[in-house]
This record gives sequence, structure tokens and C-alpha cells, in this order.
Amino acid sequence: MKNEGEEKISLGVLVSGRGTNLQAILDGCEKGEIPAEVKVVISNRPGVKALERADAKGVPAKVVEPKDFGKWPQCKGPYEKKLVEILKSYGVDLVVLAGYDRLVGETLLDAFPMKVINIHPALLPAFPGLNAQKQALEYGVKVSGATVFFVDLSVDGGPIILQDSCKVMEDDTVATLSDRILEIEHRILPEAITLIADNRLTVEGRRVRILTQDREK
Ligand code: GRF
Repeated sequence: MKNEGEEKISLGVLVSGRGTNLQAILDGCEKGEIPAEVKVVISNRPGVKALERADAKGVPAKVVEPKDFGKWPQCKGPYEKKLVEILKSYGVDLVVLAGYDRLVGETLLDAFPMKVINIHPALLPAFPGLNAQKQALEYGVKVSGATVFFVDLSVDGGPIILQDSCKVMEDDTVATLSDRILEIEHRILPEAITLIADNRLTVEGRRVRILTQDREK
């Protein structure tokens, strides 16, 4: 995604809550481990910790609430139009959903085709949607993990970029399993952003291939 001569890509991060994935991205960018810069953080909820995390790094942090655009889901188009306007005004190349709790619609995806990624706390296609860790525990799986994927109009069904797994322990609760999975999230989301920035992914249908070298520019 980086153009010739460019060192970094520009990220827009959408959040809704505590923002530990955002923190991993901000830290990775600052340390130079991710060739990217977070240009803007947008939350659909006011007063969340993620906004403080952005602020602390001097990154513009905005709140855009869907309710200001009418009733959900009718307001989705105009609401996302506003998101697109902000993201474009910051020159964003890649949109990262980091704990963003809304289903993305056509307006955002059309503006950023194959340039919106998300992180999910389960090994997709198992346990899409809400409370993935609880779903996994209740199902009784012995292994779970996290998935980074390209967002499409489905619920957590887009092409998979990276996954990693962890064991489910006998005495796991939703909290302990979530913590173990979160460690994976904080590793593979920055890794996926780096692969995209370095032009190391090709997408053929559902298959995302990782190239070992930078693709010819
Ligand atoms: C993460 O578990 C992520 O996978 C899910 O929501 C949670 C967000 O956590 N989509 P945080 O806000 O990044 O701490």
C-alpha cells in the first residue's frame, strides 16, 4: 500500500470502548515496528478510554454518534458518510476497526474498498458476532484464538488475513480466556497492518496470500 518513496501509510482507527488494540497500534507505530501513523481515531461512543489513549499520543480523537443522524439502521448511510468525510480529510489509506461495535455498511466500504480491516476474538468462521469468547467456552472448544480479516458486508465473514490460536484451559472463565486471546490480538493486528503497508498481501477470492518479499511496485 505504501507508494514509492513513502515511509508510512496513514491509518484511521474506529473504536467504541477501552482501546487496548488501539494502544498496541499506537505503540507499534511509535516504536517504528509498524510502518504507519495513526492520523485520526473516531469513536461512536463518547467518554470511552480509547479516546484518552489517542489524546495521550497527540492523535486527533473524534466522537461521531449514529444517533445524531437519525434512527439505526436508517441513519447508517449519513452516519458513515460523516466518517468517510473525516477519514478522507486526514488522508487515511487504511481503516482499522479496533473494538468498533457497529456493523459496517456500504458507504464506508465503497469509500475504502478492501481497505477496512477488523479483529475478532475467535478463530473465524467459528463464533462470529458478539461475545465470541463466551460462545467458544459454552461450545466447549479446546482451542480458540483471534482473527484479523478484511471487512465486507457480512458479519465477521470477510477474507482472513491472519489467525493465531491458544488453548482453552479447564478452569477458564470468559475473563481469563479473553485475556489470553487479547495478547494474540495485540500481536496479530499490528502484524496485519504491517503486511498491508509493505504490500505483502494479495487477495484471490477468499484467499489472502502473504508474499515473502515486497511486491514489485
Ligand atoms: C477485542 O476483543 C476485539 O477483538 C473485539 O472487541 C474487543 C476490543 O477490545 N472486537 P479493545 O477495545 O481493543 O480493548
